[in-house]
Amino acid sequence: MIPAAFPGLELLATAVVLLDSELQVKYVNPAAETLFAISRKSILHQPFPGLFADSGPLAGLLHQAIREERGFADQDLTLAPTGQEPLHLNCIATPVELSQAALLLELRPIDQRLRIEREEQRLSQHRANRELIRNLAHEIKNPLGGLRGSAQLLERELDRPSLREYTRVIIKEADRLQALMDRLLTPHRPPNQVPMNIHEVCERVRSLILAEFPEGIRVKRDYDVGLPEFRGDPEQLIQAVLNIVRNAAQAILGSRTDAASGLGGEGEIVLCTRVARQVTLARRLHRLALELQVIDNGPGVPAEIRDKIFYPLVSGREGGTGLGLTLAQTLVQQHQGVVECDSQPGRTCFRIVLPLR
Ligand SMILES: Nc1ncnc2c1ncn2[C@@H]1O[C@H](COP(=O)(O)OP(=O)(O)OP(=O)(O)O)[C@@H](O)[C@H]1O
Ligand SMILES: [Mg+2]
Repeated sequence: MIPAAFPGLELLATAVVLLDSELQVKYVNPAAETLFAISRKSILHQPFPGLFADSGPLAGLLHQAIREERGFADQDLTLAPTGQEPLHLNCIATPVELSQAALLLELRPIDQRLRIEREEQRLSQHRANRELIRNLAHEIKNPLGGLRGSAQLLERELDRPSLREYTRVIIKEADRLQALMDRLLTPHRPPNQVPMNIHEVCERVRSLILAEFPEGIRVKRDYDVGLPEFRGDPEQLIQAVLNIVRNAAQAILGSRTDAASGLGGEGEIVLCTRVARQVTLARRLHRLALELQVIDNGPGVPAEIRDKIFYPLVSGREGGTGLGLTLAQTLVQQHQGVVECDSQPGRTCFRIVLPLR
């Protein structure tokens, strides 16, 4: 049986179809079943082009690829499965030598392809930025130690107390910079994964936030208690979720004191957990994932920084260092997950998605 021979194909986000030399379907993976809204059973051993009310030049292209034993890449096709809207697909065909199959097709909706490419570009840009910042932080840290030490030595030699004020300023500011650099350079240790439950994380964060902001904020729970355990690093995930929830609390309370932009009403943060199915994370299709949404009714992320809040040192808050979300994202990515944000005045939602094995 072909599927058993390729367990990896079952997990791919890309639709994969194997055809024999007569263009009969010998295998489809779950992504292809979803794409064509058809079950594996009903499609097996049927001629592939026959699945579509209109398959354009498809049959000709496939026959030619088999005849000439030469595949093709990046063929944009419009296929209309019977009774459905036409699909715009990018198709790659590769001749294969298997006992039952002659051609392997990879099919991707064109929108999805663009989305993945954009996502990959964004990720690699992100990595490059992070690298740059780490290098810069190292370069700043080294001379700082020297500056601070010299100021200390100088202070001992100064007999006029009024002059010592200057060295104090140098030492204090050097310490402040040092602390900032240390946060930029937080060692990213690999997660220490143990079986855990996402609700332990939510509950911990909830009580930490209520202790830190005893007034003006309600933290509501909306848990799917049926969510299974998964392997993760509880400390890292608490840190990530705490950074996100703390931002929400700060945004709500900040808007209170700033009467002009205050939205009135009670400040509320909702922690909502759900199962998500068939999600693509880092190019892999996961049958099952867990989703944690942190929703607040504060003023929303300021429009001018909405596209860059996950970049280091981007802050819209007085006294903010702009590192909370960068760290949260790194920690979630170390768990193969993603963090996304959707924000408008009155409703901001941060969504963490983590794959479940
Ligand atoms: N829930 C939210 N509502 C409104 N604005 C938000 C929200 N979450 C984040 N932001 C905006 O995104 C900015 C970046 O957040 P981030 O946590 O990275 O840094 P910070 O909170 O400014 O500083 P730090 O967390 O390092 O102390 C915040 O300054 C704030 O302007
Ligand atoms: Mg923050």
